[in-house]
Formats: sequence, C-alpha cells, structure tokens
Amino acid sequence: MSSHEEDVLGKAYDARLMRRLLTYLRPYRPQVALAIAAIVGHSLLELAPPYLTKLVIDRYIPARDLSGLGTIAIFFFLTLAGSFALEYLQTWTMQMTGQRIMFDLRMQLYRHLHRLDLRFYDRNPVGRLMTRVTTDVDVLNELFTSGVVSVFGDVFTLVGIMAVLVWMDWRLAMVAFSVLPLIVLITQWFRSRVRGSYRTVRTWIARINAYLQERITGMSTVQLFRREQRDFADFDEIDRQHRDANVESIFYYAVFYPAVEFVGAIAASLIIWVGGGWSAQGALTLGSLVAFLQYSQRFFRPISDMSEKFNILQGAMASSERIFALLDTPVAIQEPHGSAPHLAPVGAPAAIAFEHVSFAYVEGEPVLKDVSFRVEPGQRVAIVGATGSGKTTIVSLLLRFYEVQEGRITVDGVDIREMDPASLRTLFALVLQDVHLFSGTIAGNIRLGHESITDEAVRRAVEAVHADNFIDRLPLGLQTPVAERGATLSVGQKQLLSFARALAFDPRVLILDEATSSVDTETELLIRDALKVVMRGRTTIAIAHRLSTIQDMDRILVLHKGQLRESGTHQELLAQRGIYHRLYQLQFKDDAAQAPRLHPVG
Ligand SMILES: Nc1ncnc2c1ncn2[C@@H]1O[C@H](COP(=O)(O)OP(=O)(O)OP(=O)(O)O)[C@@H](O)[C@H]1O
Ligand SMILES: [Mg+2]
Repeated sequence: MSSHEEDVLGKAYDARLMRRLLTYLRPYRPQVALAIAAIVGHSLLELAPPYLTKLVIDRYIPARDLSGLGTIAIFFFLTLAGSFALEYLQTWTMQMTGQRIMFDLRMQLYRHLHRLDLRFYDRNPVGRLMTRVTTDVDVLNELFTSGVVSVFGDVFTLVGIMAVLVWMDWRLAMVAFSVLPLIVLITQWFRSRVRGSYRTVRTWIARINAYLQERITGMSTVQLFRREQRDFADFDEIDRQHRDANVESIFYYAVFYPAVEFVGAIAASLIIWVGGGWSAQGALTLGSLVAFLQYSQRFFRPISDMSEKFNILQGAMASSERIFALLDTPVAIQEPHGSAPHLAPVGAPAAIAFEHVSFAYVEGEPVLKDVSFRVEPGQRVAIVGATGSGKTTIVSLLLRFYEVQEGRITVDGVDIREMDPASLRTLFALVLQDVHLFSGTIAGNIRLGHESITDEAVRRAVEAVHADNFIDRLPLGLQTPVAERGATLSVGQKQLLSFARALAFDPRVLILDEATSSVDTETELLIRDALKVVMRGRTTIAIAHRLSTIQDMDRILVLHKGQLRESGTHQELLAQRGIYHRLYQLQFKDDAAQAPRLHPVG
C-alpha cells in the first residue's frame, strides 16, 4: 500500500481550505460565539490579579486601609472564580462543538463512501480510507477545539498585557519588550525544525498503519509461509523510524519550552535590575515593579502556546486537504434525474437484456467485447467459460457496481442507468464466490437488518437450502454469533448461509456465481434440490465451473475471452462440438477421476 498521500504536508495555511473548514462551524454559530466571548472574558480577567497586587502594595497598605484591602480580596477572589467559570464554559462548549463537527464530518465521509463505485475501491487501499475517517478527522477536531478559538485568547492576552504595561510605565515596558527579538528567533528555529519532524512522524504513522493492516489481514499466509521473522524485522525497522522521528520532535519541544522560560527569566532580571533601580530612586512605585514582574511571567506562555498551535494548524491543513479530496471524488454511478421509470410489480420475474455491451476495468484492456443476450422472465440461464473470461464482470455490470462503457443493459426493457441504483439492486439476490458475513448472529446475517423478514421466513429459508443440518447442531442455533468475516464458519457453511440469505430476500432475479464450488457432493445434491425451489418463478443467472450442475438449465451461454461464443441448451451445445463440447470433455474426465469425493459436512 502506498502512503504517498501522507508524505505531502503542504502549506501551513491555505485560505481556500480554511474557508471550507469554517463552513463546518456554521451550524454551531451560537456555541462558537459563546466560546469566543468566554475566552476573551477569560483573557481580560487574567489581566486583573497583577494590577490588584499593585493597588494593594501602592495604595491600601501604605494607607493602612483594612476595609479597602477586604474589598480587593473579594475582587481578587471574584476574578479568579470568574476566570475559572469562563474557562470551564469555553472548554465545554468548544469540546462539545468539536465532537459534533467530527460526527458530522465522519457521517459525511461515510455517506460518500457508500456512494462511490467499486472502481474507486479497487484503487484505494482500506488502510488509507480508514485513516481519512479516523485520524484525519481527529486532527481537524484538534484544530477546532484548541486551535481556531483559543488563538483568539492568546492574542488577547498578549495585546492586553502589552497595553497594560505601556499604560503603567512605558519606559519599563520597553525594557521588558527588549527580549522580544530573542523570542522571535527561538520561535522561528522551533517552527522550522518541528515542521520537518512532524511530517516525518506522520509519514511513519501512515506506514505503520498500512503495514499492520495488510499483515494482520494476511496473518494466516504470514504464518503458513513462516514469514514471522522477516516481517518482524520489517516492522522493527518501521517502528524504529517512527520512534526516532518522535524522539527528534521531543528534543525540539524539550529545548523550546525551557528556552522561552529562560528568555522570560532574562526579562524578569532586566525588570528587577532597571525597575528596581528606578524604584529605589523613587521613579517607580514598588507596586508597579511587582505588577511588572507578574505580567512578564504571564507574557511568555501564550507565545509558546501559539507556536504549538502552528503545528496543529499545519496538520489540520494537510488532513483537510485529504478529507476534501475524498469528499470531492465524483460519484460515478449517478442516480437518474427526473421521475423514476415504471417497473413491473414486485414478485414477477424480470427480463434482462445485454445489448452490445463492452467493458474494460483498465482502459485499453477490454474484458467484455460486444456482449449481447436476453434472459426472458423466469428463464434459467447459465454462463460458463474459462477463468478470467469475464463471467463475474457480467454480474458486476448488471448490478451496476461498474458502469458499462459501450452498449446498454436493460431490466424489463428499462436501461439500468435510468434506475435508482438502490431500487435496481433490490431486484436481485446474489450468491457469490466469496461470501461476506458480518459480525452478529446467523439469523442477523440472513436477514441483514431487514426487520420485515420474519423469524419464520428465516427458518423457512434455512430449511429450504438444508442449512438447518449444521445450524441446529450449533449450541445457539440461529442465534449463534458469527465472528467478523465469518471466520468461525467453514466456506461451505457460509455458502449455505448465503443461499438462505438470497431466498429470504425473495428476489425477482437470482444470481449464482460459482455457488456450489465449496460444498461436498452430498451437500451439493441437497443444494441443487433446494435451488429448484428457489429458482421457481424467478429469473436465474448461474455462473458455474462445474458443468454437471447446469445441464438442465434453459440455456447456456459460453463466454470466451470476453466474447459470447456459443449459446443453447446442453444438448444443442454438445452437438455443436465447439468450446462447450471441449470443456465438457475435459471436465468429464476430471469428474470421473474425482467421483468418490464425499467429505462430511461442517
Ligand atoms: N477490479 C478489477 N480491476 C481490474 N481488472 C479486473 C478486476 N476484476 C477483474 N478483472 C479482470 O477482468 C477479467 C475478467 O474477470 P472476471 O472476474 O469477470 O472473470 P471470471 O470469468 O469471473 O473468472 P473466474 O471464473 O475465475 O471467476 C480478468 O482478466 C481479471 O483479471
Ligand atoms: Mg468469477
């Protein structure tokens, strides 16, 4: 899997992206306004304590004004209490809003993922898409909760302190500000270094995710081919790089924060030295000197905070760029405009026609060439052909997982591009080569969330395909939990479940793709028996490798290298002595050799 997208860091600030990001704040305007008000109020209150100290030292203590001191004490307490309350308010509203925005964004991403066609998923590895929906969204959350809004607070604190200092004594203020160039230098150094190491850390995180995702899904292959040692060494290397990149960035942080404090200490020393002298000469009150020292301590924290927010901003720009790129991926399978076309009533078998269909997954490498055929309502048609001849592709096109490039496909005479993809797909039930089960129960996997399918219907479907043989032997029967990807069931059992699933959905068209290839002969006979029931009153398209299973189909289509070469009943095709005849001869020998193959079920 490539992690190149993760390597690009881009600009630290991009007005176009920022404008689009801010649109996510729009539904939460009142909350954002509240948070900004709280933060500004908090910054203002933070300015008060040093000034109150000055008043105590300069005014109330010399005047021995005990009631005045009491008032100041109450003020002091109220300021701190108010500042606490405002900080709480700001943290709460901003974090809440951040969570809601993340929720909105994740749902938007997931909805978009549902609408993207399989061609997109062929191109994009799972690990990368997972990163979009999780890590990248988290980075944006950080921007909203600790970035955008609290920068207001930092700026306010800084400007406020500067203004108060100048107002109290502009000469001493100049002394305090004399260290600012040093701060600028340190911050510049820190930003440029951290920017680089931040990028490196992100790149290695992406590699770790990609590596783990691939190796964990392929764990059985890893163990089977005893790749543990080598994989361990690979991962050791990646993980080591990740750690070193982190250590590097820790170093910059470890230097930066003390350095800023150190500059603060220089400023304090200068204030004591110069201001202390002026105070001794009576040119500055003692209270002002103390207040200056206190302000100078509060002055440097927002500066280091802001440098850190610079990183957040930068990460957020990179993440949002990737998220928006995903959201902007055009949806290839469009829903039709205008009114929905009239379809035959539910329950009636459908007619299907391919008219001069050509298709290529990769441009210039056609997989289907000028394929035309008709399946009448209720007809049972089989498609046979060598591996890679394009059989599964025909099904994918019919279900509109991919869009045809030439020609058209119709159901009941209506071009499938004029149908809403969702209602098109309700016409079909599929039994595929690899059955995908979700974590949940067996019954849940047959019903797939459609509560309209009753328990009795599930039961009937299970019995019809003889899946009850193995299900009833499970401790919890239909309520037995199924592990992720159906890992706890055998392939044949999964196949039986997918038959039951197809039947329970009572589709107008049944599509079988290599459906009986993973069960033993005994079960195959049971399924063939069940299939007769399932196929009754439905249009059926069956793809099979084993010709023995399709001999009594109404018609057999022979696909060869993407072209439809022969068509007819079993007997007619044998009489033609063409491709089908040759396939049949080969398999007949094969089957004869394999005849006594009876494995116990389940
Ligand atoms: N998602 C894809 N992207 C690119 N090429 C693909 C994709 N899926 C299939 N192909 C190619 O298209 C051709 C036809 O594949 P298809 O799956 O339709 O064959 P098939 O007849 O179903 O084979 P099998 O009998 O092995 O299931 C193959 O050459 C395959 O390599
Ligand atoms: Mg196939």
